[in-house]
Amino acid sequence: MGKETGYDFREMTPEDADVAAAIERECFAIPWSRESFWREAANENTLYLLVLHEGTPIGFAGCWLMQGEAQITNVAILPEHRGKGAATALMAKMIEKAKERGATAMTLEVRPSNVPALALYAKFGFKSVGRRPKYYQDNGEDAIIMWNTQI
Ligand SMILES: CC(C)(COP(=O)(O)OP(=O)(O)OC[C@H]1O[C@@H](n2cnc3c(N)ncnc32)[C@H](O)[C@@H]1OP(=O)(O)O)[C@@H](O)C(=O)NCCC(=O)NCCS
Repeated sequence: MGKETGYDFREMTPEDADVAAAIERECFAIPWSRESFWREAANENTLYLLVLHEGTPIGFAGCWLMQGEAQITNVAILPEHRGKGAATALMAKMIEKAKERGATAMTLEVRPSNVPALALYAKFGFKSVGRRPKYYQDNGEDAIIMWNTQI
């Protein structure tokens, strides 16, 4: 599949909560609510970025920023826009912005069955450091805990 290059990025505001929740519902078995996105975007200790294609939001990524550590909460790209490099471009932008805000390390949790996500994070130097047993409530799947301590 061909890679796209024309992505734009902007920080999510509370007014983007509807569009973020709509993307979230297409991407996750247990989606966050509109209210969650409103709260997250309004919180000054978070960083949420929308990725836009031809002016339309097609995905987003977010993290919590605490004491030099960025904890990724979600990365989502609409199904019809996957496999074209959108998440790769978005992760690169999020790491750049997190570093500007003082982060030196990043962590996240991911399902062992989520092959595309595992490949994405490996590309950015994340390493598996352990598991949280039966972490995901919908199917009892473990979570793999990943860190990149040198972003
Ligand atoms: C994970 C996700 C964000 C990837 O988005 P994407 O825009 O398709 O990712 P990219 O096109 O940038 O691809 C990134 C890497 O993932 C891997 N990848 C992408 N699609 C893949 C697939 N279908 N199978 C296996 N690996 C895949 C590739 O290694 C790719 O890098 P490469 O093309 O340089 O080899 C997207 O699949 C998604 O939104 N999934 C649902 C939500 C989710 O699971 N989020 C992560 C939660 S932890």
